[in-house]
Amino acid sequence: MAKPISFARGAPSLDIVDVEGLREAADRAFANDPGGATAYGTAIGYPPLRAWIAERHQVEPESVIVTNGSMQADAFLFEALVEPGDTVIVERPTYDRTLLSLRQRGADVRMVELEHDGIDVAALERVLLAGARPKLAHIIPNFQNPAGYTLSAAKRERLLELARAHQFTIFEDDPYVELRFEGSPQATMLSLDPERVVYASSFSKTVCPGIRVGYLVGPAELIARIVKIATTTYISPNMVSEAIVNEFCRSGAIDQSIETVKAALRERAQTLGDALRRELPEARFVAPEGGYFMWVELPRGADVGALFTAAAERGVQFVKGSDFVLEGADSSLRLAYSGVTPAEIEEGVGRLAEAYREVTASSTVDAA
Ligand SMILES: Cc1ncc(COP(=O)(O)O)c(C=O)c1O
Repeated sequence: MAKPISFARGAPSLDIVDVEGLREAADRAFANDPGGATAYGTAIGYPPLRAWIAERHQVEPESVIVTNGSMQADAFLFEALVEPGDTVIVERPTYDRTLLSLRQRGADVRMVELEHDGIDVAALERVLLAGARPKLAHIIPNFQNPAGYTLSAAKRERLLELARAHQFTIFEDDPYVELRFEGSPQATMLSLDPERVVYASSFSKTVCPGIRVGYLVGPAELIARIVKIATTTYISPNMVSEAIVNEFCRSGAIDQSIETVKAALRERAQTLGDALRRELPEARFVAPEGGYFMWVELPRGADVGALFTAAAERGVQFVKGSDFVLEGADSSLRLAYSGVTPAEIEEGVGRLAEAYREVTASSTVDAA
């Protein structure tokens, strides 16, 4: 069996995690604030980190809750705002775990097509004019998971206009924002309209996922309600992790870490794009400007289920596009380049192309 190469996991490879910097930050956390780092704390999170995040987003600390990863933040937000039967807008495709979590809550999930410059706002408007009354629209604005696309400035403005006119909240889920390696950054929707937006981000992609620290920023009264839910759920999040992240951020190690991650991602995305163009010219994709993911569309009729099996036989993993939608996306797949070196990417795409040739040799694919 060939050496496994995984394009499946949205996680960094170990070589781009600043392990030494984290060890030093941990030493400082225990030396500088042994009481705070080892106590239960409260559900708002570790106060110095909460203050640091508040300053970064230019909001009051009362607008911030720090949680065990942003998945936990999402779960609290859904618990606070989404009742069974409530309509929630999501992008199509979208992050599979959010989709699952909303469906488990019994939400009426409406998918609106994602275009190369973000959600199709005209299609969203049609859904609204047809009578949908969403509580929430979940949007991943930068280097979207799974597509890698970024929401344009004009669409950010339009989404906020629609949210104001139709009285829904925008849930801006933004864990990849710091990982832009091409082009210029866009203003967050949070900064454009803090009353309409609840914002989530995470240190999973800039520090490491195992630290499990994420956060929400939103209107203070909503955050206060979420703090109550958090208290009854777990008393408080992990204070040791948050104290370490606090030291890591305040020393500036995070800025170096972001530079390391971005440089690696830039090279990996470039290598992946070049290898696909060379080995699998049928593949359609948009070169991402940041983040972890590339969405690959194969010709209509391509059987990605069969490709998944044929690739796995060659030790290559990816996630099928159909996992990110309610139905369809049968000829698409998500390739994560965050956890693979350029050499592995070259090798992995070679094997993927071989698997594709095998699968298409035994089926008819529309070349359109
Ligand atoms: C869009 C999006 N939201 C949330 C998460 C969860 O991140 P965390 O590790 O902070 O829980 C991810 C992780 O892949 C993600 O892609």
